Amino acid sequence: MGDTLWDELGKLEKPTLSQLFEADAQRLDKLSTRFEVGEDESAGSIVFDWSKTHLDDAHIAAFEQLAAKMDFAGRRAALFGGEIVNPTEGRAAEHTAQRGVGKEESVALAADYHHRMAAIVEAILRGAMGEVKHVIHIGIGGSALGPALAVDALAREGALVDVHVVSNIDGCALEAAFKACDPATTMIAVASKTFTTIETMTNAHSALEWLKENEVEDPYGRVVALTASPEKAIEWGVDETRILPFSESVGGRYSLWSSIGFPVAMALGWPDFAEFLAGAAAMDEHFRDTDGAANLPLRAAFADQYYTRLRGCQTRAVFAYDERLDLLPDYLQQLEMESNGKSVKADGTPVDGPTAPITWGGVGTDAQHAVFQLLHQGTNLVPVDFIASIAPGHDLDDEHHRILLSNCFAQGAALMAGKASEDPARAYPGDRPSATILLDEISPATFGALIAFHEHRTFANAVLMGINPFDQFGVELGKQIANQIAQGGVRFDPSTEALLATCGII
Ligand code: F6P
Repeated sequence: MGDTLWDELGKLEKPTLSQLFEADAQRLDKLSTRFEVGEDESAGSIVFDWSKTHLDDAHIAAFEQLAAKMDFAGRRAALFGGEIVNPTEGRAAEHTAQRGVGKEESVALAADYHHRMAAIVEAILRGAMGEVKHVIHIGIGGSALGPALAVDALAREGALVDVHVVSNIDGCALEAAFKACDPATTMIAVASKTFTTIETMTNAHSALEWLKENEVEDPYGRVVALTASPEKAIEWGVDETRILPFSESVGGRYSLWSSIGFPVAMALGWPDFAEFLAGAAAMDEHFRDTDGAANLPLRAAFADQYYTRLRGCQTRAVFAYDERLDLLPDYLQQLEMESNGKSVKADGTPVDGPTAPITWGGVGTDAQHAVFQLLHQGTNLVPVDFIASIAPGHDLDDEHHRILLSNCFAQGAALMAGKASEDPARAYPGDRPSATILLDEISPATFGALIAFHEHRTFANAVLMGINPFDQFGVELGKQIANQIAQGGVRFDPSTEALLATCGII
């Protein structure tokens, strides 16, 4: 990356947030932007307010130079052009093509796959494959977190079918789904890009056994496979007509838009799923076509780099002030940590600074009564994102939502302003950063744009750090050792052997 630019960035003055607002009357206009999700106003909008971060004109100019030096425009063109942007696995990363933005052939192929998916979803919903009231979606990691979040965010009330997402190999998870479903009206969706993941395949086998034990006629007929490895699904016993494929170039944690989104389409119906894709496409086009800090994901990445690299922040926190988004911190944790938690650059050389911070968070206002103490008075500086919706997700008295949003905005204000006190225990240092993302409402389109924003922010961070965000070799070693344990005959360290022996595993 070359140290000079980072040295220069490090030497820039670091005014406090209050000083930044005092010095620049245009600050809010410059750093708080309303993003229209579609040309038609009814698609809704999202405000991205980065004014309570320490970004100023000087830092932005320097980060724009860094982006130029790291060939941000070239890397972005390679992403949208379907080029190999994941060199360690020799793959493109074509999640945007799922939304209709990308290389022509890939967009056409994704549209074909979606066409097939829409036909199957609509057939199931109109009862052409027998009565279906429940879907048990079995997958893990990228094959589960996205669907679980999207179903929760968009279909908490009024889902067309009752969806249960099961990921953990711990049988408690699957058993809970069984208890909530009637086997005679349940469809099992096996979601696995590779169709080899041990947790998913074990859970899928048990789900099939459950259908058999409950004398469901043609149990295999109640299974759909969502996969980039259709041949493996066929080998496992799924009929070709119930396989919903997607491309190898769609990464696991970026796969919500592909057939992995099947339970979302089942819960919402196809037209809303199409809206969800369109909302993401609007963010894709913005990210593809906008230069410099006006580019919202890139602006957010500038702030991320500022805090991680220049202020030594080891974590970043996300608080959704909306119960419907309570899985968002988990989802972003995988997206950001599995993508950018690396120690080498794309060319294999060691990185010269910290990479992804630890993403954590929760839901407001609950988190205020649990962890906000540290945010306000702890010794760690934690940049915070607040995410909220102007429209509530419930029909109760307006008072609920007024108090919820007031608390959300009060936290950002308090973190920034702080409060002096002669009693040190009661003093708040202030100057603590936050960004706010405010949706008009949580609709399929705004939610799609919100998720795509975070995907592009993650990619922009990777480009600024020179790393490949699309592989995840860090998860392999533990899996290999678990396999060795299953095979037996391998010696481990004394602690591991004692633990295994205590549980009767060896
Ligand atoms: O272990 C990590 C991982 O490879 C994720 O990246 C992926 O989303 C998950 O496992 C599940 O993989 P699959 O979809 O192939 O079952």
